[in-house]
Amino acid sequence: MQVETACQTPSIYDTTLIRFPRIQDPRGNLTFIEQEAHVPFKIARVYWIYDVPGGKQRGGHAYREQQECIIALSGSLDVFLDDGQAQKIVHLNRAFNGLYIPPRVWRRMQNFSTNAVAYVLASHPYGPDEYIRDYHRFQQEVGVS
Ligand code: TYD
Repeated sequence: MQVETACQTPSIYDTTLIRFPRIQDPRGNLTFIEQEAHVPFKIARVYWIYDVPGGKQRGGHAYREQQECIIALSGSLDVFLDDGQAQKIVHLNRAFNGLYIPPRVWRRMQNFSTNAVAYVLASHPYGPDEYIRDYHRFQQEVGVS
């Protein structure tokens, strides 16, 4: 699975809901992910967000180079996406779906249900320089201001 990201104008329309394999079984279902086969990048890092108090939001930034895939491993959440021109909200509530987000798309996680777990696959190790945290800076970097 390959997605061109270099020098690409970022767009919320490049975000994709990926359906991972789902092995259904009366004993309980099973889903698996192999890097580059099921997500379009090599996985350098995973992290997860959990125990989110009611009404709180996470994220609220964009990445310069990093690609990611967000999975609602448990419960549900909304991901607000913004490319500087268009916005959309994707509701995640199935453990076999992942939301692929290319670099330079502003994203915020919100409306976490009780016991929600947001599991994030990331293409890069953690690095503060990857973050665009200021929205006006984001608009400048994506060329919409
Ligand atoms: P951050 O990504 O800023 O969370 P949010 O955008 O929801 O506010 O991460 C919060 C803190 O956790 C920040 O101090 C950086 C640290 N952190 C790591 O050390 N490694 C990681 O992989 C991540 C995602 C965050």
